[in-house]
Amino acid sequence: MGVAAEPIFAVSNRLPETALEALRDAGELRIDERSEAIPRANLLELVRGADAILTLLHDRVDEELLEAAGPQLRCVANVAVGYDNVDLEAAARRGVVVTNTPGVLDDATADLTLALILATTRRVVEGDRLIRAGRPWTWGMSFMLGSGLRGKLLGIVGLGGIGRRVAERARAFGMEIAYHSRHPASAEVVADLDAERLSLDQLLARADVLSLHCPLTPETHHLIGEAQLAAMKPGAVLINAARGPVVDEPALAAALAAGEIAAAGLDVYEHEPRVEPALLGLENVVLSPHLGSATVETRTAMAELAARNAISVLRGEGPLTPVASQ
Ligand code: GLV
Repeated sequence: MGVAAEPIFAVSNRLPETALEALRDAGELRIDERSEAIPRANLLELVRGADAILTLLHDRVDEELLEAAGPQLRCVANVAVGYDNVDLEAAARRGVVVTNTPGVLDDATADLTLALILATTRRVVEGDRLIRAGRPWTWGMSFMLGSGLRGKLLGIVGLGGIGRRVAERARAFGMEIAYHSRHPASAEVVADLDAERLSLDQLLARADVLSLHCPLTPETHHLIGEAQLAAMKPGAVLINAARGPVVDEPALAAALAAGEIAAAGLDVYEHEPRVEPALLGLENVVLSPHLGSATVETRTAMAELAARNAISVLRGEGPLTPVASQ
C-alpha cells in the first residue's frame, strides 16, 4: 500500500509566518515569496497540481487558473473578505470550495473608514500638504474650516459586519445612522444603532457622509455615478473603503472639481493600483492605498483563517467560512 501524498498548498504571496507554519504542518507548502502581486504566468505555474490555493484580492481566480491547477484542486481560500476576484460559477462547476475571511477585518476596516471621514471633514491631509509646501499660515477664525460630525447623518450602503462597526464608531461621534441594503438589518442591530433603512435615492438626498460597504457585484458596479453624485447634498462627503468599481471614478473627479459634493475619501480604486489622474490634483479628496485591513493583527488573523479554511477542507471537515453564495 502506497503512502498517501501530502496535500499541496499553493500560496500566491508572502503571508504572516503563523499561517505558513500551519500549512507546513498540514502538507507541502509552495509559495511565491515576492511582496508585490505575482505575475499571472508565475501564478499559473505555482498552482499546478495544488490541492488548495491561497489567493490575494488581486489574483484572478477564473477558469484558466482552475484548469491550470488541475482536477485535484479542492479549495480556493481567498485572503480577503471580498471575493469579486473569484469566478464562483467556474469553481462550483469543478466542485472547488471557495472561502473568504469575514469578521476578522471588520474593526480594522471600520477604523480606516473613520480615519477617512475625519481626514476629509477636518481637512487633515490638505493641512499637512499646506505645511509641507511651506505656505504661510496662521491660526484664524475662518482658516481651513471643516465640518463637525455631531448631529450629521451617516448613510451606510451595505450594513454587513464592516458597515455595522463603522456605524457603532460614528454613533460615538454623535452621528445619526441611516442605511441602504438589500435586506433589512436584524431588529437587534437596528435597535443598537437606531438606524433607519432608506432607499438609495433617499439616502443620497439626506446623507452628510455617505460610506460604501457593499460587495462588488454586477448590481453594485458604478452604483455611485454621475446621477447619484448630483443627487447628493452639496456639502456631503463620499467615502469608499469597499471596492473601487462601485464608484465611477471620472464622474467622482468631475463632481469634486465642480463642488457638487464637498469631499471624498478613497481607499480603493476602479483600476487599482492606478488612480484616476483627475483626482490627483484635487485638494478635496483623501487617497489611501487600499489599507482597510492593513494592521499586523488583522493581516495575521486573515491569513490564519484562510489557512484553517484550506486545511479543514482538505481534511474533509468542510470550510469554516465559505463565501456567502456557496
Ligand atoms: C479587502 O479589501 C478585503 O476584501 O479583505
